Amino acid sequence: MPQPLTYQPQGDALALDGGVRVEWQGMRSAMLDRAVVRFASRLAILSGRDAAPGGQGGLILRIDCASPDPGLLSVHMREHYRLRTGPEGATLVADGPAGVLRGLSTLLQLVEQPDTGPVLDGAIIDDGPRFAWRGLLVDVSRHFMSVTALERQLDMMELTRLNVLHLHLSDGQGFRVESRLFPRLQQVAGPGRYYTRQQVRALVDYASDRGIRIVPEFDAPGHSYAMLRAYPQYAARPVTTPMDPKRVVRAALDPSNPQVYVFLAQLYHEMAGLFPDACFHVGGDEVRPDEWTTNPKISAFMKQHGYADAPALQAAFTQRVQAILAHEGKTMMGWDELIQAPVPASIVIEPWRGSRYTAQATAAGHPVVVSAGYYLDLLLPAVEHYRVDPLDPQGNGLPPEQVAQAHAPFLEAFALDPTARMTPAQDRLVMGAEAALWTEIVTEEMLDGRLWPRAAALAERFWSPASVRDENSLAARLPMIQSELEKLGNRATADRQHMMERLAPHGKAPLATLLSVTSPVRNYALNHVFGPGRVTPTENPPPLDRVADIATPDSFVAAAFVRDVRAYLAGRHDLAAGLRARLEDWRDNDARLRQVAQVDAGVNDALPASALLAQLAQAGLDTLDGTRTAWPAGGPAALATAQNQFAASRSILAVRSTPQPAGDLLQDITPGIVALVQAGRGGR
Ligand code: ACM
Repeated sequence: MPQPLTYQPQGDALALDGGVRVEWQGMRSAMLDRAVVRFASRLAILSGRDAAPGGQGGLILRIDCASPDPGLLSVHMREHYRLRTGPEGATLVADGPAGVLRGLSTLLQLVEQPDTGPVLDGAIIDDGPRFAWRGLLVDVSRHFMSVTALERQLDMMELTRLNVLHLHLSDGQGFRVESRLFPRLQQVAGPGRYYTRQQVRALVDYASDRGIRIVPEFDAPGHSYAMLRAYPQYAARPVTTPMDPKRVVRAALDPSNPQVYVFLAQLYHEMAGLFPDACFHVGGDEVRPDEWTTNPKISAFMKQHGYADAPALQAAFTQRVQAILAHEGKTMMGWDELIQAPVPASIVIEPWRGSRYTAQATAAGHPVVVSAGYYLDLLLPAVEHYRVDPLDPQGNGLPPEQVAQAHAPFLEAFALDPTARMTPAQDRLVMGAEAALWTEIVTEEMLDGRLWPRAAALAERFWSPASVRDENSLAARLPMIQSELEKLGNRATADRQHMMERLAPHGKAPLATLLSVTSPVRNYALNHVFGPGRVTPTENPPPLDRVADIATPDSFVAAAFVRDVRAYLAGRHDLAAGLRARLEDWRDNDARLRQVAQVDAGVNDALPASALLAQLAQAGLDTLDGTRTAWPAGGPAALATAQNQFAASRSILAVRSTPQPAGDLLQDITPGIVALVQAGRGGR
């Protein structure tokens, strides 16, 4: 994952007995040497055999890199490569250094561990990306993420061939880069939680080494509360210190103040020097019109210049910012709100509110990077995002009924629009897409698990041909890629274990069992954004410590259960014993968890979900044993409850009006129990 463009398995695998010997043809560079060192140490981990490069024997790796790439680290970088593996070793031929990096990541995925010892599968691969921009957005403003955590994500990105890290560096809760010109930005707006200039340079180098661009985002004119706490003279309405949670999402710059543009020009100049990428993201999303229109000075300014409304005023602001960035030699990028009024077509637009904005932006000639449909903080299972194509709905080749299915979770508030139509010329303006993780309720210890493996599924959506969309194959490969990523540094499982130990120091096993088959409520239900806010913005956010914070959107154990139920119902009666054992374990887990809850109060939150799991498991057991008539009266009710709980966070609109299950957990074995019960009803 991502699946290559073409892949032909070859018969003979190569035993990996330790060591890598590299034979260079074509160009060689210090960057490629470092890539080979990384490859060798990863190969050693995956194969369990020492694989220091330069030794004798072992894997012979021939690397033929045609030439340096003047487009390296741009949307034009050459990532195409050909790979041949077999008994004689591996041959990797690439058009440029980025192609070598991508080929090495694929080569690692050919390592297998059969009982007879590690092997490299034989294959002929000819591969290149579908989209030039395959991004991952990490919001480091809401929750600051350490350099180490970001480096780890860059490693995962290299392994899955993602190539843009979009850092959301400034928002209401913090400004995260050291500024020499405006030191109050780190002193007031990001105290103790910002990247020094030296750290930024090192991070950019770390990413470059992996063929990954870093695109910085400094959100303005909205989402700028942190910046404005440091420099309140640029605010449209008064901003005070200490942090006022009600103002955090609302405060905006004053576009009528000429000094604002002087400030931005100096700030962007300094930041443009730190972040070498051609693209510079200035946000532009979710400006609250009344931040401007309730200020008499700004209203008068609008009248004087003939700006009819806030979007017209924002367009004027955008044009001035674009000129500032053009002066820096930067391409401006921003969210889809920028096209509410006409702005220069050179601005790269990032649609996030729906595919209709992809259609609208490309119709106006803007290059586009799509994040609509890829918001990982919606906590949807990987497959929901995987179904959405960046060229939705036109380019993905799905029959109409499946288009509706692909859009279902997004159809309401985040409107992917099955009626939006794109021409081939518009499709060509789509440079790619980004998975996005907003971190209102994601701490650093949750970062790896909230990003992966779902970001790997999206790496495939963005890299592989549109025709690669088999959901069963995705489900089968998702645990494999996650296991591989964890061997190579991903901390998702380790961090979850740690969170469970903190919550249930007297016995995390029953909690782990519950969490292995439950997932968090979806579509921002976990944030409680539409009720009393769950997380008030504060300077020093505490750890997130509820059971649902540990639960993951993709429950592999539940998925395997559902798969086995279907196979059993299709005639695999040998699976019955294994199904029964799992159901008994889930049923009996409830008593064990109750015991733990007597001493570890944090677990109480999960008891209703645990009881429901026990009821579902009992319902499944009764059906398996053919004693459905002996169901406790709760059986059908439990199933209905579990199904209603899914419906309650089926979409953002549902979340607005529907109470969520206690503990905010969903029962992922539900489809398996439904299948068993329906088959039982059919007279099995
Ligand atoms: C956004 O999610 N406001 C870009």
